[in-house]
Amino acid sequence: MDHGRLRDEVSIETVGEEVIVHHRFIDLRLPRGWVDKTPEIRAILNREADSDALGFQDKQVNGIVEFLKLQDCFFHSRAKDAYSLREIKDIFESIALGWFARYYRHPVWNRLRRGELNLNGFLAWVLHNYHVSRAAGKSGSRCAVLFPKRELRKFFRSDVLEEYWHCDAFYFVRHPDLSISDDDVKSYVPLPASLAFEQYTVAVAETDWLAHLLISYFQESSIRFYADCQKFYSEVEAAYNLPDFFKTWTAHMRLDFDHGHADNFVEILSSSDNVSHELFVGSLAAAWFAFSFLYSSLDQIEAEAAKGAAVTLRKPIRGGVLDPSTSSLCRVVRRVEGTNLLEFARVFASLDELQPFEPGHTAFLANGVLEALFYAMSFSTEHDEIIVLGRLIEAFPSGKDSAVQDHTSSAAMAIVSFLRAQACSAKTLLFVIQIAINLGCEWARPAAGGRTRLEAFLKTDAVIDRDGWDRFATSALQWIELLNWGAGASEACPSSFEI
Ligand SMILES: [Fe+2]
Repeated sequence: MDHGRLRDEVSIETVGEEVIVHHRFIDLRLPRGWVDKTPEIRAILNREADSDALGFQDKQVNGIVEFLKLQDCFFHSRAKDAYSLREIKDIFESIALGWFARYYRHPVWNRLRRGELNLNGFLAWVLHNYHVSRAAGKSGSRCAVLFPKRELRKFFRSDVLEEYWHCDAFYFVRHPDLSISDDDVKSYVPLPASLAFEQYTVAVAETDWLAHLLISYFQESSIRFYADCQKFYSEVEAAYNLPDFFKTWTAHMRLDFDHGHADNFVEILSSSDNVSHELFVGSLAAAWFAFSFLYSSLDQIEAEAAKGAAVTLRKPIRGGVLDPSTSSLCRVVRRVEGTNLLEFARVFASLDELQPFEPGHTAFLANGVLEALFYAMSFSTEHDEIIVLGRLIEAFPSGKDSAVQDHTSSAAMAIVSFLRAQACSAKTLLFVIQIAINLGCEWARPAAGGRTRLEAFLKTDAVIDRDGWDRFATSALQWIELLNWGAGASEACPSSFEI
């Protein structure tokens, strides 16, 4: 039954003598005794009754049903073969509200509000915002050159120019009570989910214009929480004793508001252009991954706090030294050395930083490796790189061109996005693939002939100097961190959306 039932996101909880209906930002508390002796209400809460079909005689029942209707608690399917962008926006609006509600229910917000998250976690949150801001110009730039429609390319050309400098103007940590330099901010290694958000949204801009518009609309429409944000910021400033910390963040929100960013996306999504059901569903799933990265970053902010109370930034590796006391990206103390990328890959694979890796997404991940190899070949300018990439591609089972499948996890998508982002440097991509092979990731393992070719290339054609070590070392640690995310539990893409 898809007409008039309670939405999936509505949850019912019985606590003591109350039955609580949770939906987005509201909780409706009903007396348990009354619910138990009112079969119409019980049937609605059990999703056994259609809210429209029954004519409720009881005034109280009617009142409750009307209230729930006004809160958009009931789902009325609008599925059909094709939709105008305006219809898509209306359908997405409900889905986006559900995402916002979930996002703001995350426990990290109250911990920040009360100053309970340590400074490490506080800074991880602040810098996550810096990274999301920094990503805006990047993904918009892809849209400015690759979007299929001229008007949209034109729109993104000016949108990027309004956005790209906001990370520089508003998100440094220049508070007198915190000694965090601009360089600390610029070099802070993004949390795995912040990085995934950036890499994924850039990739989506190339392949799925509708998904990118939905993601942008979702982000920009957060301006509707402006007043709540102001209140939240002042509570956080007080809790951490950091007066005026969010002055620039507020200025940024006002600027986005004055530029009418959210309105721009409303306007774009108001056209009567038609989109097929299939494309819409695919774009919704793609937008969900971007949301899931934003959500996962909240978990990872808490995890960063759990590493220790003393402020340890996620600094990139310097001088070939891994040290958890200077960079929270490291887990063990070690000096890493090697003259070529094959040796280097062995060192990182032996660090014992990886949890047992048994993902259920082997075909999806293997396809991600293959696509990244093709992608790398398209960027490559060197003979030997083209040949080794081709040999490796030949050494993988050709497989299907498998796009997202049901239940692909956000971490698997993050891994694939990372591989794809490395493809602009064949050496870096091959280096991280070698680490994955050494760590026993079956999906990264080409047939024996390919492995020999890869090892020979990394040994002789990928000799690195001291300056290169640190960059590769940092990438290796980011990669292992991502693999660890993949090894743990991460949320799967829903198999359907309420359309
Ligand atoms: Fe902005």
